[in-house]
Amino acid sequence: MTKAIRFERIGGPQVLQWVDVDVPAPGVGEIRVRHHAVGLNFIDVYFRTGLYPQPLPAGLGMEAAGEVVDVGPGVTDFALGERIAYAARPPGAYAQERVITASSVVKLPQSISYEQGAAMMLQGMTAQYLLRRTYRVKAGDTILVHAAAGGVGLIMCQWAKALGATVIGTVGSDEKAALAKANGCDHPIVYTREDFVQRVKEITAGRGVPVVYDSIGKDTYAGSLDCLAPFGLFVSFGNATGPLPPINAADLANHGSLYFTRPTLFTHIMKREDLLQISGELFDVVQRGWVRIGIHQRYALRDAADAHRDLEGRRTTGSSILLP
Ligand SMILES: NC(=O)c1ccc[n+]([C@@H]2O[C@H](COP(=O)([O-])OP(=O)(O)OC[C@H]3O[C@@H](n4cnc5c(N)ncnc54)[C@H](OP(=O)(O)O)[C@@H]3O)[C@@H](O)[C@H]2O)c1
Repeated sequence: MTKAIRFERIGGPQVLQWVDVDVPAPGVGEIRVRHHAVGLNFIDVYFRTGLYPQPLPAGLGMEAAGEVVDVGPGVTDFALGERIAYAARPPGAYAQERVITASSVVKLPQSISYEQGAAMMLQGMTAQYLLRRTYRVKAGDTILVHAAAGGVGLIMCQWAKALGATVIGTVGSDEKAALAKANGCDHPIVYTREDFVQRVKEITAGRGVPVVYDSIGKDTYAGSLDCLAPFGLFVSFGNATGPLPPINAADLANHGSLYFTRPTLFTHIMKREDLLQISGELFDVVQRGWVRIGIHQRYALRDAADAHRDLEGRRTTGSSILLP
């Protein structure tokens, strides 16, 4: 028996329940993990509200770090007591212990704590594929990152800066602007009171940017299109304000032969070799000190509902973890 968060119906944070659950013995290719820290991510909100539908009742959470406490038949890569971390499907990380497929887990380097591991796997691997794969940021690029003081945002600002880019970032308050600036964002824009399209045009002397990383969705879609230079890439990777309207191909033509993509981390780490490459590069930039993982909020796992209220209420910055 272990404790876990479960929900039986979609809705507000109050649907999250702290309950006893049975954890089965690991099957072929599976391991049982005792979590030391669990990551909080915006995708957890999408599952809870039903924006991303799944069969109910269900668990929640896609990211954690902990130790291996049991190993199923056929697992040779992981031993009892081994330190691991993951960002993986299906949801179920909001638990003291769980069973998970061994191939979706990676070994956590000794120099990275369980708390850091839980805070960085999902947001950090997302930053990796966005900056190194979806659009390969290079020195001299000027890029636009929305929600720059958030979990993914602060990692992206630091990493892009280390790559030699100039980073323009949108944030919801002056405090968040100062935080983004301290983490490599050259030009924070407080988009709750400033016109971010106009500011991007000023900063780029009218040229626009070659790439926009937009996780805000519905509210920023039109403005993000306006920020792009001809042949620019619109990377839509989240929907904090709701899903985008259907994409009108003519908009891409009229804004200058633009490209549009809607990537997800889980496609990028589908193959084990890609998971190892992406997580390895993330561990490397953290160990070099190019990217610091700021754990700005800690909650007891049983209080996950409070964590969701803060995340949805735009009261969090950087990464947040839940402690089992
Ligand atoms: N596709 C993928 O592979 C992938 C992977 C990871 C994350 N994501 C997406 O990336 C985004 C960031 O994730 P995260 O976990 O790091 O969260 P986060 O950025 O720490 O939190 C979301 C931020 O979005 C901003 N926001 C603007 N309007 C909002 C609204 N109406 N409600 C709530 N927040 C609003 C807030 O920042 P301001 O106050 O500064 O505006 C808020 O702090 C999410 O959209 C998530 O779904 C996508």
